Formats: sequence, structure tokens, C-alpha cells
Amino acid sequence: MQSARFLRAMPEGSPVVSARIPGTRLEFCPPVGYTLSMVDSHGRNIEYLRLSLTERCNLRCVYCRDRDLSRPESPLSAAQMERILRAMVSLGINRVRLTGGEPLLCADLEQIVAAANAIPRISDLAMTTNGQLLAYRAAGLKRAGLMRINISLDSLRADRYRDITGGGNVSQVLTGIDAALTCGLTPVKLNCVVIRGVNDNEINDFIALAREQALTVRFIELMPLGGIRDDSRRVSTEEILISHGGGLVEIPPAYSGQPAREYTGPGFRGAVGFISAMSRRFCTECNRIRVTSDGKLRPCLGDNREIDLRESLSQGEDALREAIRIGVYRKPGGHHFSGAFESPRKMNRIGG
Ligand code: 5AD
Ligand code: SF4
Repeated sequence: MQSARFLRAMPEGSPVVSARIPGTRLEFCPPVGYTLSMVDSHGRNIEYLRLSLTERCNLRCVYCRDRDLSRPESPLSAAQMERILRAMVSLGINRVRLTGGEPLLCADLEQIVAAANAIPRISDLAMTTNGQLLAYRAAGLKRAGLMRINISLDSLRADRYRDITGGGNVSQVLTGIDAALTCGLTPVKLNCVVIRGVNDNEINDFIALAREQALTVRFIELMPLGGIRDDSRRVSTEEILISHGGGLVEIPPAYSGQPAREYTGPGFRGAVGFISAMSRRFCTECNRIRVTSDGKLRPCLGDNREIDLRESLSQGEDALREAIRIGVYRKPGGHHFSGAFESPRKMNRIGG
């Protein structure tokens, strides 16, 4: 491993030298400071960070629900999050998504958005929210530098939405969607987790929404991370395409590693996407890592290995970058959802 002296000898902006040495795994891990891109031991270029701002949430979605609601959280401060962002970007991250829990519960949200926006080389700054509190803050977030937004919406029916989310109000989400469209947090994407026997009879309504509105509706395959563990409740992408896909035409992926397959149709203002983490693993093309609100680098959603960045934060920037680089290098080859996988963290505590 290289010394800190070496780090200083390699100024930022040095030529990008990052390659996987064929046949090697952990024996060769390019030294920190040497690259502006991070390649893991499986040869994947890691450039996308999902940063969770809080594990708190104002909803309790059935597929996410954390039974332990009393856990006190100890989130990183906005300043610590900014340091992690800067370290990540110096190593090659160029796309950032703010998640939760519910990021709109984070009082420092606008400050964190503005701090992220001020970091050169972040080309995409997005957020995922349940939209309950979005209407009031959409314009301010746009002003602070947020570029676009994904909003979770599993039902268009008030009573069903309330049941799925444990008390949410669907009209507030719809008002939030309007606000996001109006202030230009676009493209707006709606995330709909399809659950058999719960909301699968609304698939056509969601497709109609994509026809009428300039937004993308994305159907997400249920993952065994929360309160629903029964595989038979999952509705696969193929099933939806066979039953409801007539007339939809696939749009070529905008970038490599794009997890959603997207479709549109004649007369559509928007698009329909599919996130098929279970039936069509995209692990070999995965370009993302996660950082939890309590400072753990979690390289894979479906693998419980985590690296604590808190300690490195207290040891200085080189230690922080080194911890990130090692964590990324050791990113597992794929998720373990098809085995008897159990995550001690539910989705709200990982960052969706
Ligand atoms: N399976 C599939 N999607 C999930 N999400 C949260 N939990 C699950 C799960 N168990 C989705 C939410 C949100 C996104 C970030 O992750 O719907 O839109
Ligand atoms: Fe909250 Fe998102 Fe979990 Fe729903 S899925 S309870 S909105 S964190």
C-alpha cells in the first residue's frame, strides 16, 4: 500500500490510470490518489453514489417496514456528509442520489444539496423521496441545485396508498409531483413496487399516467428486504410486459449500467421503465455504492458487508479516501437475494 507521501506526489487531475489487471483480485488495488476513477475487483467502474441522509421516515411501507422504530439514529452531520462527498468525487464518483429513510425529514437537506452542487465533477444530482412533504420544498431544492427527482408511488387510490404506506396521503404526493414538474426537477420518475394481490390491478392506470404526463413510471420488482418475504407476491417484469406491454417500444439505454429498461409508445408524453433486480440481475454492470446515514459504506444492497467511514472521518482526508477505495474494491460480485438472505438493516436504514 502506498504512503501518504505518495498521495501528495500525485496531484488531483493526474492522468487517469485505472485498469483491472486480468486474473487479479485483492492483490492489486490501485493506490489512492492515482486515479480519477474507481474500478472494483470485478472490473466494474464505480461512479454512482447513493447517500442516505436519514433513516427516519414518515411512512411505513409494507415492503420496507423496520419493526424497530424506537432505535435512536445517529446520523452524520451535513459537514461530514460533504466531506464524504468530496472524497468520493475525488476518487471518481460523478453521479449522486440523496436517499433515506425520507430525505425531506432532514433539516439540512437544502444545505447538503447546495454543498453537493458546489462540487465540480458531479454531473447528476438527484433525490428519491416518498413525496409526502415535497410540494413545499420542490422549488427551493431546485434553487439549491437539485437536478431531478424520483418519487415513490405504489397506488393512485387514496385508501390503498394509505394501507401500503401505513398512513400516507396520496394527494400530497400528487401535489408534490406537480410541483416537481413545474419547477423543472425533471425528468420526474415515479417508483411503483408491484405487489401481487395488492396493486397489480393498477398497472394499466400507471401506464396511462405515463401516456398523459411527461414523466417516467417505473415498475420495480419486489425485493426480499422488508415485511414481504413471499416470492409469490412479486410480479416480474416479463409478466407485466406480456400482460400490459402491447404497443410499448423499448428505448435504448441512455448509459451503460442503467438499471431500468425503458419503453414508450405512440402518443406517450412520458415513458415506462422496469427495474428487474430479481429476474434480470444487473450486478455485472453495477456502478453504484451506498453510504448509510450513520456513515457505513455499503457497496451492495444485497450483501451485508459494510465499512465504517466514521472512524476514517476523524483520521483525515487520506484515511477517508483509503477506506472508500478499499470498500469499493471489495464490492461483492452480486447480491444474495435468491438465497436465504437476511439483512439486519431494512431499506429505510440502507438507503433505497
Ligand atoms: N423491494 C423493492 N423496492 C423497494 N423499495 C423499498 N423497499 C423495496 C423492496 N423491498 C423502493 C421504494 C423506493 C425505492 C428507493 O426503493 O419504493 O421508491
Ligand atoms: Fe419510507 Fe421509502 Fe421505506 Fe416507504 S420505502 S417506509 S417511503 S423509506
